[in-house]
Amino acid sequence: MLSFLAGGADGAPVNPWVALAYLVAGVFFILALRGLSSPATSRTGNRFGMVGMLIAVVTTLVTHDVANIVEIGIAILIGGSIGFVIARRIAMTAMPELVAGFHSLVGLAAVLVGWAAYLNPGAFGLLSMGDTLVIGSDGLFTFGRGISPVSKVEMGLGIAIGAITFSGSVIAFAKLSGRMSGSPILLPARHVINLGTLAAIIVLTALFAMAGPSETMPLIIALTVLAFAIGFLLIIPIGGADMPVVVSMLNSYSGWAAAAMGFTLGNTAMIITGALVGSSGAILSYIMCRAMNRSFLSVIAGGFGADDSAGGSGEAKEQRPYKQGSAADAAFMLEQAEKVIIIPGYGMAVAQAQHALREMADMLKEKGVEVKYAIHPVAGRMPGHMNVLLAEAQVPYDEVFELEDINSEFAQADVAFIIGANDVVNPAAKTDKSSPIYGMPVFDVDKAKQVFFIKRSMGGVGYAGVDNDVFYMDQTMMLLSDAKKMVEEIVKSLD
Ligand code: TAP
Repeated sequence: MLSFLAGGADGAPVNPWVALAYLVAGVFFILALRGLSSPATSRTGNRFGMVGMLIAVVTTLVTHDVANIVEIGIAILIGGSIGFVIARRIAMTAMPELVAGFHSLVGLAAVLVGWAAYLNPGAFGLLSMGDTLVIGSDGLFTFGRGISPVSKVEMGLGIAIGAITFSGSVIAFAKLSGRMSGSPILLPARHVINLGTLAAIIVLTALFAMAGPSETMPLIIALTVLAFAIGFLLIIPIGGADMPVVVSMLNSYSGWAAAAMGFTLGNTAMIITGALVGSSGAILSYIMCRAMNRSFLSVIAGGFGADDSAGGSGEAKEQRPYKQGSAADAAFMLEQAEKVIIIPGYGMAVAQAQHALREMADMLKEKGVEVKYAIHPVAGRMPGHMNVLLAEAQVPYDEVFELEDINSEFAQADVAFIIGANDVVNPAAKTDKSSPIYGMPVFDVDKAKQVFFIKRSMGGVGYAGVDNDVFYMDQTMMLLSDAKKMVEEIVKSLD
């Protein structure tokens, strides 16, 4: 194991202490992933990740021939300061687009490292004697000094995955931050175009690996351009409700891009970290696809199976009658209830209503009401978004339930209390085949005796941009206000 870890780019053995340090860093990364799997241990998980990264970076810096440590120090300082300021300032609700933005940087870094290695293979220890097939002026094949085909395959893959990650993440960033419409953009014959581009990238990588030194430049340029294009083409057809899967899929791609670059640079810590990010991102994407009732393959193939007729934002909405209530009405009925199920969504995060919500739930519990929280896997804008907010407000974990564990309980609930959620309770997902959220499992709030629905106005729609029949049901009372303000008023009335 250690001898594998100790292998450099040029196959030269490296100091076993370096291999050991990278191995320890890898163990810290695994502990980090384990910690991040539950809100209770996530802080410790984050710390493990930071320690692992520190070990990996310091080991790399002290054990490699670093040309200019001052320049590297300045670059780390500038990058670190930008990251620090962004992390301090970013609103929780803008995290998904920030993550997409950061993934794009990982992808771009992979492309740049690949190109740097191609242009200056000697500096990366990639020049090997007698490994490369060269076509001489006489038309005969000989073996000469150059980059070996294996290194060129690693380089080509790193550049291709990095470029796909970059352009895909830029589109995801634009869609998540509202700079671009969240509706799917469906090009005619997009599957043929995507498959053709993917096949061309594979063929170009093979040609690049086999080509002689004088012929590689046009091939690597074409490979890079097509990979940038396919990243763009794969993400534009993905509609609003499927963006969670895209974010975790791009996370996975960024890991594989880093792993491929780890091979090019002969850095085992990068290979381990990249593989961990790549595989955990792939597993998360798979879990989210199952939660959304989507086929994994169809999402990674770029909106495969997306219905061209799928609706979206901007559709004219008919005026339908609905019932509106006040905080006092809601408080009165909540007090009478025996069982209340709270469904938080993105609007709770926007309003930062989680603390007021816990206070309301505590008061109800004191009055003998059973209160449970129901979390949809894609509620909010990032995996675990609601869990993090409820944990921050110190909601006990045993009151928080996943969709499949609580959905059958709505039939016994007196009140389904929807706070800032919308798509995750929209019955169109069950009934309307033309809806962009069709097929996604949703909470059966219609089975509860009463439904309280907090949102700011009847005009606002959920992320997928579709109307919601729950607003107009007989047992629904719309509580139109900012979520925090409404819950604080309910708390006052309960008092
Ligand atoms: P959404 O469907 O986005 O609905 C949010 C609701 O909150 C809207 O009804 C909005 O109506 C209301 N709202 C916004 N600000 C509010 C405030 N200050 N006070 C009160 N209400 C407010 O939320 P959801 O049900 O959580 O669904 C999540 C959606 O996001 C899904 O479609 C999912 O696919 C998508 N998505 C999820 C993720 C992940 S990983 N979770 C990532 C990207 C996208 P008003 O504007 O009228 O107030």
